Amino acid sequence: MNTLASQDTELSITPRFCGFSATIEGLNLSASLSSQSIQQIQNYWLDYPVLVITKQNISDLDQVKFAKNFGDLEIHPSVAHRSTKTPEIYRVSNVDENNQIMEAKSTAWQYLELTWLWHTDSSFREIPSLGSILHGIEIPPTGGDTLFADMTKAFDALPKPEQERISTLNVFHSHDYIVSQSKALSSRENKGQYESLPRVKHPLVRRHPVTKKQSLFLSPHTMESIVELKEQEGRVLLDDLIHHATQHQFVYRHKWKVDDVLMWDNRCTMHAVLPYDSINHRRVMHRTTVIGDSVPKA
Ligand code: SIN
Repeated sequence: MNTLASQDTELSITPRFCGFSATIEGLNLSASLSSQSIQQIQNYWLDYPVLVITKQNISDLDQVKFAKNFGDLEIHPSVAHRSTKTPEIYRVSNVDENNQIMEAKSTAWQYLELTWLWHTDSSFREIPSLGSILHGIEIPPTGGDTLFADMTKAFDALPKPEQERISTLNVFHSHDYIVSQSKALSSRENKGQYESLPRVKHPLVRRHPVTKKQSLFLSPHTMESIVELKEQEGRVLLDDLIHHATQHQFVYRHKWKVDDVLMWDNRCTMHAVLPYDSINHRRVMHRTTVIGDSVPKA
């Protein structure tokens, strides 16, 4: 365990999973943090792309204030999932703003259920998100864990010729493709209200703008096709890479406790929620999403 005395508190870091996730202790996210603490968190975040901060009974405004230390915040394209009071909060929740569990067939739930698929937040944007910060407010008794895949390790584990071949390829991503993944949504007229976003092109392998490490840039719920390959060939390659990157040796599984706050670097990870009983149990999570710092580059 390494410790650092900062001007308002002493932070310490305890690794959890293979140099990929770690717990920071010594933080109170409802208080103002010194610039030294923010800098230390940023350094930890580069060393461990998934950070866990436990026992944070914070308000949405506290969360927004904390997240803004790392950049401006996105407003989620899905109108139904933005908090009406605090629009920077994306409500990753099966409970609506009237405090009712959503109908299984409702458009709002059908969209949210797609978080059970592997994805990288905001891969549908020209500049995808830098990182996300998620506050666990209500946790179901079973299921609903979040899986995180280490896309740097997954890239490093590929044979060199494969790394070189895929480093020349690009992928079309779109928000519309997310909606098309849901049988229920795609077959109905009211698919939900979303900000309209054009299709974008991203490299299949990206270099982290700060650490300079290369990683696979996969986001199965937005990846339409590989630009340079025929549709079927591209789909087979994407499926192979998804299978490779989600093997257990690359994946950290987070079992939530109430008031855990997780922050993950979207520039080198992807994640998925494990299914849970969304009809009988409540899962309320509030996410803030930091706007990306640059267009992904190979
Ligand atoms: C997300 O997909 O951004 C949220 C993950 C979660 O709800 O655990």
